[in-house]
Amino acid sequence: MTTPFPGRSAPDAGFEMPLEVPASAPPDAETAALAHALITGRFSVSPKRLVAPGPSAAQLQHMVEAAGCAPDHELLRPWRLIHIAASQREALADVFVRALLERLPTASSDAQAQSREKAFRAPELLLAVALLEPSHGSVPESERYVAMGAALMNLLLAAHGMGFAAMLTSGHALRTTCFAQAFGLRGGERAVCFVSIGTATEVRRRSRPSAHELITPWQPSGDTMALPHAQPLDVIDVRPLDAGLQDAVTTSLLKTPALQLMRLIFRAGNGMPQHSVQGAITIHCLEGEATVTTPSRSCNLRAGQLVMLSGGEPHAVNAVTDASLLVTVLLHTQSSESRP
Ligand SMILES: Cc1cc2nc3c(=O)[nH]c(=O)nc-3n(C[C@H](O)[C@H](O)[C@H](O)COP(=O)(O)O)c2cc1C
Repeated sequence: MTTPFPGRSAPDAGFEMPLEVPASAPPDAETAALAHALITGRFSVSPKRLVAPGPSAAQLQHMVEAAGCAPDHELLRPWRLIHIAASQREALADVFVRALLERLPTASSDAQAQSREKAFRAPELLLAVALLEPSHGSVPESERYVAMGAALMNLLLAAHGMGFAAMLTSGHALRTTCFAQAFGLRGGERAVCFVSIGTATEVRRRSRPSAHELITPWQPSGDTMALPHAQPLDVIDVRPLDAGLQDAVTTSLLKTPALQLMRLIFRAGNGMPQHSVQGAITIHCLEGEATVTTPSRSCNLRAGQLVMLSGGEPHAVNAVTDASLLVTVLLHTQSSESRP
């Protein structure tokens, strides 16, 4: 849904505090309601739709210090932010073009111009870098990314609370050698994403998942019969969602010890980076258009088309348009293990 930018969000009138407030809760219900309104009212705004005014130096400092309040195992502070000044956008544009040519040496002049243009979006721009070294015995790499994600979330919330809009964006350029050189990244440092901050010209909110989509009861291994999915002869509707696609979220439809079915929802331009699953899978495009890419091939899927991938095959999925995909996964079972 497209709405005019509403400015600073008001507390959600529908939110009610629980009657019993635990001792560790914030000091008053008003603070809790404000925190809830801040979190649920935040939304990302594409850098294309972020204009001046951006935050002042003092406001930016406030946001960055909010990032510094995030959880941090062993206080490693496994991330840093690089500020890209307004006067450095030309230099950033040059880096984007070099990064494009590193990946695609024959990129057209149009493609190069598009890459340049991205450097000038949003009045305020930060680069978020993950620090993965030196290694620490009790803090694996995954925890460093979690700490960084929490820090960025704090920053986004602080920006939203101050009436600004923001968005995290990444892209292939960040993973190129020339990008790492241009930003002076050392071994063990990874450019993860940009943080664009400004004033929104337009807001596109997406619906939020409800709690039951986000949490499942623990199923101790071997106790798989009670999974909260469809049971034999339960009818599962996988018809195109049409207008409902816009607000839909990914759901798991069915899970047995041998089989899992999920309906994945992707917005145009989004998808899943390269990964693999143990069992064979099929990817069936229910609506929209998506590409499936393995290290050796790529194919385009439109509504009604499906592909199969062998177990363990690395693959990435990218939605060309908004799309819903029915993914069927053959799970790793005793019988598949014993097959030759
Ligand atoms: C590390 C990171 C990088 C992202 N990069 C992109 C990106 O390059 N392009 C994009 O459209 N969304 C990207 N996203 C997603 C958006 O930032 C945003 O979270 C998403 O559009 C959902 O919007 P919402 O924050 O309003 O729920 C990224 C998110 C994260 C966490």
